[in-house]
Amino acid sequence: MKQLLHIKSSIFSAYGQSSQLAAELLSALQDKHSEFTLIERDLAQQPIPHLNAEHVQAFFAAESDRTPEQQAVVAFSDALIAEIQQAELIVIGLPLYNFGIPSTLKAYFDQIARAGITFRYTEHGPEGLLQGKKVIIIATRGGKYAGTALDSQTDYMRNFLGFLGLTDITWIYAEGLNMHEHKAESLVLAKQQLQALAADI
Ligand SMILES: Cc1cc2nc3c(=O)[nH]c(=O)nc-3n(C[C@H](O)[C@H](O)[C@H](O)COP(=O)(O)O)c2cc1C
Repeated sequence: MKQLLHIKSSIFSAYGQSSQLAAELLSALQDKHSEFTLIERDLAQQPIPHLNAEHVQAFFAAESDRTPEQQAVVAFSDALIAEIQQAELIVIGLPLYNFGIPSTLKAYFDQIARAGITFRYTEHGPEGLLQGKKVIIIATRGGKYAGTALDSQTDYMRNFLGFLGLTDITWIYAEGLNMHEHKAESLVLAKQQLQALAADI
């Protein structure tokens, strides 16, 4: 059975534009592939704690030395990692907030970047350990930045996900959503691209 992980990072949860576009893609995929199981990770509904020194100390402590609190910290991170390890396809709804990725998504990334588990250093440099998966990013933005120096998300996401071994990334941009003259056209275009993508999977 193929597992599909949907990471929602809109503060508006299912009502966010990124979540709604992702829902259309997922519904098309589920119609086509009844064998897909869908796991939803909603970062607004289930907030991830910001990484702190206690978390990092817990990650680095030897398993046998961990206190019960440290074991709980590691178990939480392990569960997030297991979820993404099991997924063959990862769909990320990615709003642009104040020129960055949502802080909830950064908190999630900080919990899944674990040396020896999701990446490791070798004599040839870093190696990502989440390999062989496909990622689709649905980026929703009030303005229009794709392809310009003001696009703070695309390189960051590519670098971070690539570091973990997630290099097969398809981007769908829905931009200009706060610009009345662009919104409708931008959403129609994004939906067409998502349907075409679903037809190819
Ligand atoms: C707190 C906040 C900050 C935002 N910052 C930006 C921004 O820096 N640039 C931009 O183009 N749009 C910005 N927007 C508009 C969002 O990118 C746009 O509404 C998008 O649809 C959000 O995706 P969502 O509906 O999935 O949450 C911001 C919206 C909010 C709520």
